[in-house]
Amino acid sequence: MRGRGAAVSRVLVVFDTKFGATRDIAEEIGRSLRGVGLPADVEAVAAAPDLSKYSAVVLGAPVFGGKLEPPLCDWVHEHLATLENMPTAVFVVGASVRDDTPEAREALDRVMDSALCGSEHLGAGLPRGRFAGRIDADKLPAPMRFMLHMAKLPAGDWVDLDEVHAWAIGIASRLT
Ligand SMILES: Cc1cc2nc3c(=O)[nH]c(=O)nc-3n(C[C@H](O)[C@H](O)[C@H](O)COP(=O)(O)O)c2cc1C
Repeated sequence: MRGRGAAVSRVLVVFDTKFGATRDIAEEIGRSLRGVGLPADVEAVAAAPDLSKYSAVVLGAPVFGGKLEPPLCDWVHEHLATLENMPTAVFVVGASVRDDTPEAREALDRVMDSALCGSEHLGAGLPRGRFAGRIDADKLPAPMRFMLHMAKLPAGDWVDLDEVHAWAIGIASRLT
């Protein structure tokens, strides 16, 4: 991680989401960072956040069909040179986090790598976050319900904000 050792003055938590679980998680991260005195803003990647005010970034997105959706990767790609010069932490949200097996962790790590544009600097030196999300089958469009059925994923709400808070506090302690 380049930029290590420089004082972090303001953190941007940037997230992608389809159904809101990743937004809830990102907002908890922002609250947790601010709670320990680290100024933090939380922005959807869809709002094309401006990085100029920030000296560290937390990136997060949900997994669908074993992959991230394009918006976060596109934003990272666009801002890669700036991001490589500041501390970055990464988290993913997915139903497979519930089975905390080595295979599930490995698969999620591969998904996270895909958000980092092959950069060895992004996400380096900070723990990765893997958080369980939520699936409300009634809110899904038909093709996604089919995808869910094929992937044998159950519906449920597994968001654990205490776990998210603990991770964010760990990140804050490394940034300050
Ligand atoms: C159609 C569909 C496919 C999914 N595929 C995966 C998957 O491959 N791996 C996984 O861990 N979670 C998967 N999930 C679970 C989502 O990552 C989870 O619902 C997450 O909370 C969605 O985030 P969001 O609410 O921020 O959009 C899938 C969910 C749906 C609805």
